[in-house]
Amino acid sequence: MFTRFRRKRINPVLRDLLQETHLSTDDFIYPLFSRSGEGIKDEVTSMPGVFQMSIDEIVKECYELKKLDIKSIILFGIPDIKDSVGSDAICEHGIIADTIRAVKSAHPDMFIVTDLCFCEYTDHGHCGVIDPALETVDNDITLDNLSKQAVIHAKAGADMIAPSGMMDGMIQTIRGGLDSSGFENLPIMSYSSKFASAYYGPFRDVAESSPQKGHKIGDRKSYQMNPANRKEAIAESVSDEVEGADILMVKPALAYMDIIRDVRNNTTLPLAVYNVSGEYSMLKMAAKAGVIDYEAVMMETLLGFKRAGADIIISYHAKEAAEILRK
Ligand code: PBG
Ligand code: ZN
Repeated sequence: MFTRFRRKRINPVLRDLLQETHLSTDDFIYPLFSRSGEGIKDEVTSMPGVFQMSIDEIVKECYELKKLDIKSIILFGIPDIKDSVGSDAICEHGIIADTIRAVKSAHPDMFIVTDLCFCEYTDHGHCGVIDPALETVDNDITLDNLSKQAVIHAKAGADMIAPSGMMDGMIQTIRGGLDSSGFENLPIMSYSSKFASAYYGPFRDVAESSPQKGHKIGDRKSYQMNPANRKEAIAESVSDEVEGADILMVKPALAYMDIIRDVRNNTTLPLAVYNVSGEYSMLKMAAKAGVIDYEAVMMETLLGFKRAGADIIISYHAKEAAEILRK
């Protein structure tokens, strides 16, 4: 006696009826990179289809996104001037605050998430203020700055704040800062289990956020997680839940499917995954080399994140996936 699983795979309608996991444009958040100037839309060599854009181009891009039924973006900023603290990020007229206001006034219906971190804004390229004695980012001074940055984004009109710097206590501090400024209804999506990953390489080209060459702290291993650690990844996310995060995140996604499932099984909070730059570029380059069916591999990958337990997918593929989902 054996089971005829194939009985249910023959008719395509029945296959659809029995499909356990689905992708939808409701799942996606699309990343955008904002810089000063006008009419600027510069493609990034390492990420075909991804651009640094001036604010006017970002506003135009939002029309395209809405046509594709993508309703949410996450903003990253490339400031004109970088310094040791990342002052542009804590200034009401910094690049992100200006971008939020412009997008909101043209597109009140666009859901704006902001990445909250300092690596794009500091001249050393680290995610906060440096503690020279410890040769790492000073956790608690950076917390104060994160809280200021969050309130600036909130005042400019952001719909959700996404802290990505892996500082301890960042959720509790930002929640406190937002609440005491009257933003108790603004949700926080924490990059709660974020690994020190080589998959961020192409992003750092777009965002111009690599740790400065020759700086004595050459990587982010003293604050982002060790890719080998599974139990710690669960603890990090659960701890952010306790601190008051509304949505948790695992990042990167593709090489961390087990972590996505682990976090899913250890919380009832919604879970996001970040399908990062290196994952995107690998598919793009493989397609260019003619070695994969790009669209099929992309959709299989995105579906895999849902199956692993993700509710939200932040992805540079979102527009291409939306076009396929529409057919
Ligand atoms: C900033 C930040 C990074 C990414 C998102 N927010 C880079 C980093 O931590 O170096 C990576 C996104 C990607 O690779 O697509 N802290
Ligand atoms: Zn950072």
